[in-house]
Amino acid sequence: MTSSPSGHETTQPILSAQGVQRRFGGLTAVDVDDFVVRGGTITALIGPNGAGKSTFFNVLTGFDRADAGAWQLEGREVTGLPAYRLARQGMVRTFQLTRSLADLTLEENVLLAAPGQRGEGIGGALFGRRSWRRQEADNTERAQELLARFGLEQMAGQPAGVLSGGQRKLLEMARALMSEPRLLLLDEPMAGVNPRLVETLLDHIRQVRAEGTTILFVEHDMDVVADISDDVVCMAFGKVLATGTPAEVMRDPEVIDAYLGSDEAGDDDSARLAGKGRQP
Ligand SMILES: Nc1ncnc2c1ncn2[C@@H]1O[C@H](COP(=O)(O)OP(=O)(O)O)[C@@H](O)[C@H]1O
Ligand SMILES: [Mg+2]
Repeated sequence: MTSSPSGHETTQPILSAQGVQRRFGGLTAVDVDDFVVRGGTITALIGPNGAGKSTFFNVLTGFDRADAGAWQLEGREVTGLPAYRLARQGMVRTFQLTRSLADLTLEENVLLAAPGQRGEGIGGALFGRRSWRRQEADNTERAQELLARFGLEQMAGQPAGVLSGGQRKLLEMARALMSEPRLLLLDEPMAGVNPRLVETLLDHIRQVRAEGTTILFVEHDMDVVADISDDVVCMAFGKVLATGTPAEVMRDPEVIDAYLGSDEAGDDDSARLAGKGRQP
């Protein structure tokens, strides 16, 4: 797995979606005609509060159902597949509110995401317990490596419940990476993370891309988006308003309007967007 933003894979969509709709009663929360994530990129999904970003994530990742539409992962039809089957096909997500299991240790939380047993089938029959034990040791080693990567190795044996909000985000990333995803979806990975940790987390995300995993993430902070993203997609009222480089999207008048017109979007974001929009 070696792809980079400048590599061959950039022209190939890893994820495409057409005509995806999700309605809640009279509200159409998601109404996306056309959506593409290029392989090897960090792609940001932005938009004011209530734009439908999380709902779109939930639908694509099998945690919610769509009322209409189709989507493909690396060209394979994956419309409506449940999350565990998508994970097997290489698409894994984290949540805006983390879901680590508080009573399990950090290591156990990460191990839960280990990919399927290699000891199954003919190999398992031939090598039996020995292969199974070997695999368990491999998984444990990888879990420990991932925890170390996120600076959590000292706490590996402690229950996840002791972690701060920011540390839980790191644990979620470690857990998501355990299954070696081709496409990693992060819903507001920086939310609740100590500002001192944000730069570290961004470096981790860049590193994940460098290792060949494509990243699609929801983010509010425009500085973060401009800093780290190859591509940006802006949603408002369930629809895709604009797609392009961070600079292109942030100077798009419709995007600026959507942020300025939103009561809920932070004044900070509107000001930053408007500021960026004025740049040549
Ligand atoms: N389960 C639900 N039932 C009813 N309305 C919902 C539900 N989930 C989300 N919504 C509504 O759908 C819209 C989009 O929400 P959401 O996807 O969370 O937006 P975002 O993540 O962009 O802030 C909002 O108006 C929200 O209130
Ligand atoms: Mg959301």
